[in-house]
Amino acid sequence: AEPLKPLSVKVDREPEADYGRKKVTIFFGTQTGTAEGFAKALAEEAKARYDKATFKVVDLDDYAADDDEYEDKLKKETLSSFFDHILFGDYSYGDGEPTDNAARFYKWFTEGKEHGNWLENLQYSVFGLGNRQYEHFNKVAKVVDEILADQGSAKRLLSVGLGDDDQCIEDDFSAWRELLWPELDQLLRDEDNVSGASTPYTAAIPEYRVVFINREDVANLEKSWSLANGHAVHDMQHPCRANVAVRRELHTPASDRSCIHLEFGIAGTGLVYETGDHVGVFTENCTDTVEEAERLLGYSSDTYFSIHVDKEDGTPLSGGSLSPPFSSPCTLRTALTRYADLLNSPKKSALLALAKYASDPSEAERLRFLASPAGKDEYSQWIVASQRSLLEVMSVFSSAKPPLGVFFAAVAPRLQPRYYSISSSPKMAPTRIHVTCALVYEKTPTGRIHKGVCSTWMKHSVPLEESQECSWAPIYVRQSNFRLPSDPSLPIIMIGPGTGLAPFRGFLQERLALMEAGMQLGHATLFFGCRNRKMDFIYEDELKNFVGTGALSELILAFSREGPTKEYVQHKMAEKASDIWNIISQGGYIYVCGDSKGMARDVHRALHTIIQGQGSLDSSKTESMVKGLQMDGRYLRDVW
Ligand code: 2AM
Repeated sequence: AEPLKPLSVKVDREPEADYGRKKVTIFFGTQTGTAEGFAKALAEEAKARYDKATFKVVDLDDYAADDDEYEDKLKKETLSSFFDHILFGDYSYGDGEPTDNAARFYKWFTEGKEHGNWLENLQYSVFGLGNRQYEHFNKVAKVVDEILADQGSAKRLLSVGLGDDDQCIEDDFSAWRELLWPELDQLLRDEDNVSGASTPYTAAIPEYRVVFINREDVANLEKSWSLANGHAVHDMQHPCRANVAVRRELHTPASDRSCIHLEFGIAGTGLVYETGDHVGVFTENCTDTVEEAERLLGYSSDTYFSIHVDKEDGTPLSGGSLSPPFSSPCTLRTALTRYADLLNSPKKSALLALAKYASDPSEAERLRFLASPAGKDEYSQWIVASQRSLLEVMSVFSSAKPPLGVFFAAVAPRLQPRYYSISSSPKMAPTRIHVTCALVYEKTPTGRIHKGVCSTWMKHSVPLEESQECSWAPIYVRQSNFRLPSDPSLPIIMIGPGTGLAPFRGFLQERLALMEAGMQLGHATLFFGCRNRKMDFIYEDELKNFVGTGALSELILAFSREGPTKEYVQHKMAEKASDIWNIISQGGYIYVCGDSKGMARDVHRALHTIIQGQGSLDSSKTESMVKGLQMDGRYLRDVW
């Protein structure tokens, strides 16, 4: 699943600097780079339309300092700008959290403050990037939009745009932008110069400057990752190289699927984590995929180059990025292996970039059609619904050979880290981060076998226990709010079928450690489900051991493919309705982890039914009780 993002705007009636030019700031929050791309494209187009205004694109995390400083900086920016578009991002995970780079802003903006008069002169609009498949569709965008408007002083130019990545988010963004121009025309258009409105704007295709280098020194290639270990803080921009210490299969040979238990060694790296956190793993494309890309691009794998965001004279490339996409010089093999997303479907903007470099005019024409409003249905069918990968598209349009600077800027998005709920507790495994990962291996509608990039890498990784030449990956820890109650005597209910078990294995390790330290623990119930106890009952022995030691009070199992009917965790919950109600009444906590579209949605309904029945409540009282549990942090979900 792909993550989300939005935009917002404001006005200073007396811009101080740059007298006579109105200033516009476009803020973005981004996880995968989509919102950042939109923000920059919007700025470029706006610059072309309004020559009497200045536009600035700002990463919300550029304000990350301590909180006070953050507030001052943001206010200063806000007051000195005319409009701010705030793009928030991407929640491929979780319960509607902001993107990592918008987290600090969002916390500051939403928590407990009255945003009074400093917003007074603000005119704004917000565009969110989300996915309708998730329950909290564009929550961050909606919340920011509401606070800006409801706290009185800011003026909403346009109702919040809700981009849906499940369909075509580029179309949603274009539609919103078309509504924005008339509003901006009123505020920014120079009365003497109204021509801009009628000139159709064609977006420039972004490009990096690439310098090919005669490769003499290959030894430096991996320098950046080893150096990353020197960073005091490890985050998405500064991941830390970690070895694969252990890898083992969790399914039995009878299973036709695969689920990997993997341990990253973190001793001496400075990486720390807490039970319930996530680990982001920067993964690699497999060799077959990379070789195919090299063939399609027409370059050899040892092409050695550096990549730049400025011209030779040091001035920035127009429409260019704020920073290079990856550290270079490196070989094309390294760049394609580590940094290029080759297996997702190409965006429309990528098709336009390919079209520009297609030497066969009929291919160029068809690519432009697919990216055009007229080709909308065909794009959704032929590209999105058939899950055609970028490489599949490039092999159909084989005359399109973009230069590397265009390929990395406009065609292949940056390969994103994959996130996993950590399945260990630092109380038991202080020098290891455990991951529980189901292998993604499925046939797409075109007959291509889609192998999940990270799960395939994990499956084939070589652990240190087998070889000194073991596999490694850059990783970082992303904090979550999925935590055991601070009072360990409170009862808990955990619901986690399949790999949804992962964080609960961490919870149970933590409880065992607390018990061994002499702590009194509350009752703990785990609902676990899988297909068949002889195939995919992962960590069976460990779970039984947790029951034996008392770290787990009750293990309730649902096997979906053993009998004539499907047994799911929510069916078992219904059987335990009165126990669940008692635990809630005693101030207990409920945790759900796993698939958000099917399981978590159905479990949510089941919980609703249980509370309604047991409490003899009407539907709206039930609703507010469930909301109350969520607000109190007693009903927590780690879902994807
Ligand atoms: P199934 O694949 O047989 O349908 C872990 O993936 C377990 O979760 C499997 O047993 C799977 O069953 C089950 N599962 C699938 N959809 C579910 C849903 N909507 N609610 C609860 N469990 C579900």
